[in-house]
Amino acid sequence: MVSLSQLGSIDEVEDQLIVDFRSHPVFARMSEMSRTEFLEILLQRRFVSLAFVPFYELALDALADEPEKKVVRALIREEYDSAGELTHRERLVRDLLAIGASRDQIVRCRASDQTMGVAAGLVEAVRKADDHDDDTYQISILSTLRLAGEILVAVEYEMFWPHLQRFGLSANELPGKAESKFYYPHMTHDSRRHRIGIVPDLTCNRNHADLMTDRLRDRLMLVSARGVEACIRAARRAQGVKRSFYDQWGAG
Ligand SMILES: [Fe+2]
Ligand SMILES: [Fe+2]
Repeated sequence: MVSLSQLGSIDEVEDQLIVDFRSHPVFARMSEMSRTEFLEILLQRRFVSLAFVPFYELALDALADEPEKKVVRALIREEYDSAGELTHRERLVRDLLAIGASRDQIVRCRASDQTMGVAAGLVEAVRKADDHDDDTYQISILSTLRLAGEILVAVEYEMFWPHLQRFGLSANELPGKAESKFYYPHMTHDSRRHRIGIVPDLTCNRNHADLMTDRLRDRLMLVSARGVEACIRAARRAQGVKRSFYDQWGAG
């Protein structure tokens, strides 16, 4: 069994992983990018968003317990909203059109080998490996989804946001601007607001990252210190896969 305070070491590693992710040089260069250069990144990034559902579906098949399955199932369903509403991928295309991409440019864009490598890397990250036992595998899946599928997504969109605004999006309806239907809402509902090693305040609403944090914390507290190690190992790997996406515009 692991105490809550022992879980603080995961938060510390995670803080560092987020700092390192944000420090990718491509994010600093975005302020000098033209609309065309910026769109090139977003059009490639769209293919990673397209891989989100299969990535989560694979994880859902691998998760053993109902509380965790329930969260992942709900997040997959949320991708489609209710019938008659736009799917998250359609919302993404709407935001791209609003900042000046053409439909033709979107549908002609080909995923690069590096982008496909990132999608494959996420799938590989939720595969059971020889060094996993049942407990550490469950923890690895949750740690991977939480960081690669939620927290770092919010960090990416936070890094994009000033430039998305520069090219015409806004958080709310504003004259001359288009309200963001994809990037801005994801920036909010995927962001890390709670730490793993702190008693959760269950009175506030849970966003996607919080739902994952709650499940991961519960599971970590049932397992020995090897659960903490597995969680950190999976988080490092997830960050490495996500960060490598940006290396195609200059490694750093
Ligand atoms: Fe989504
Ligand atoms: Fe999410």
